[in-house]
Amino acid sequence: MRNWNRRKSIAVEALPSEHTLRRTLSWWHLIAMGVGAIIGTGIYTLVGIGAGLAGPAVVLSFAIAGAVCACAALCYAEVATAIPASGSAYTYSYAVVGELIAWIVGWSLILEYSLVVSAVAVGWSGYVVGTLSAIGLPLPVALTAGPHAGGLFNLPAVFIVFAVAGVLTMGTRESATLNAALVGVKIVALILFISVALPHFDVAQFKPFMPYGFSPHEIDGKQHGVMAAAAIIFFAFYGFDAISTAAEETKRPDRDLPIGIVGSMVICTAIYVGVAAVAIGAMPFTAYADSPEPLALILRSLGQGKVAVIIGAAAIVALPTVILAFLFGQSRIFFVMARDGLLPKSLAKVSTRTGAPVRMTLGTAAVVSVLAGLAPLDEIAALANAGTLVAFIAVAACMLIMRRRDPDGPRKFSTPLPWLIGPLAIGGCIYLFWSLPGTTKLFFGLWNLLGLALYAWVGRSAAIR
Ligand code: ALA
Repeated sequence: MRNWNRRKSIAVEALPSEHTLRRTLSWWHLIAMGVGAIIGTGIYTLVGIGAGLAGPAVVLSFAIAGAVCACAALCYAEVATAIPASGSAYTYSYAVVGELIAWIVGWSLILEYSLVVSAVAVGWSGYVVGTLSAIGLPLPVALTAGPHAGGLFNLPAVFIVFAVAGVLTMGTRESATLNAALVGVKIVALILFISVALPHFDVAQFKPFMPYGFSPHEIDGKQHGVMAAAAIIFFAFYGFDAISTAAEETKRPDRDLPIGIVGSMVICTAIYVGVAAVAIGAMPFTAYADSPEPLALILRSLGQGKVAVIIGAAAIVALPTVILAFLFGQSRIFFVMARDGLLPKSLAKVSTRTGAPVRMTLGTAAVVSVLAGLAPLDEIAALANAGTLVAFIAVAACMLIMRRRDPDGPRKFSTPLPWLIGPLAIGGCIYLFWSLPGTTKLFFGLWNLLGLALYAWVGRSAAIR
């Protein structure tokens, strides 16, 4: 049997070179990677779904989800600089708490990273289909939607997962540089949306402000209310945690990780508040609540068809940066779990040519593309959120445990007011988790049962060690 409360020592440099990642990234790569991972389907697509669940008060949902993420980001910055090794919340839990908790957290991270890739691929597909149809090139529904929406398979979503996986196998630095250029496109597009829609802003659109109330409750089989929307909108804010998976590939992790994590979070929150408020003020939210491309739809309805095509094109070019960051993160988490012996060790090999874990990247892409092809966006996003919330709780708890064990030890980054911020992050995440749809919580429970069964099996199997 495995020793379930064994803790891991963080000694990256001592590993054989075939299990060592190359240090090629600096702070601006990390900010770009963070913004690239954060701004995506959440603001481009889920803003419509969120407005449908909360009405104009979706701006409050944004504020609540953003505040919880800000607290979690500060905890991440402290723990990531204290434990600058790949694997994010999985590695931190392994070093601070023990193997069993690390496995459970790693298992939740798999849900987060894989399902974000699938969800963003579906969001991307929505903009491709909408933009092509707006310029007179409609694609058949059978090949652009899953069975839930009357189609067979979402082919564009599958295509984009593999295209991004191909870029990632080229090597970490090359993909980080390409990412930085595409992040610029994504930010410019959102600023363009704000400036074109702002003149149509009408405060009257904010009344009634909270038509579906605050606490989650069911209307027509779906959870509504400000908190129900916040639990979905939460999807828009995370991604800064993907930066921490690059710790072993960062030149100066002590300086660059906090700059990357906190900097990217601040930039994105400012942009989101602008986009959400302007979208709500521009036209009645019911008009775009179900749209797969709400920002483009709003612009078309305002008579700005050409700008809508530009925004659609920018989303098509730039949303893949989110897929890139999360596919990168997922392959690194699998990689570290395999290196630790919790997954088959043969998977933890980096390519001698590019220094990247090629096998892991392609294997991950194969699995997530199937989900992207078949499942609906809001359900995938809700389940990804469940996994992320558990990881955030684990990181905040690690920060508090480390503080308790060594209150006065040197810290490269210190969370301000740790005994307020840490519990706020944990309490906020628990409240958001509770606000998720019942089916999401059920699937999450089943996923964890499967994980624990596998852990017990790994403990007995000599073949996997
Ligand atoms: N925050 C990322 C997005 O909205 C996951 O796409």
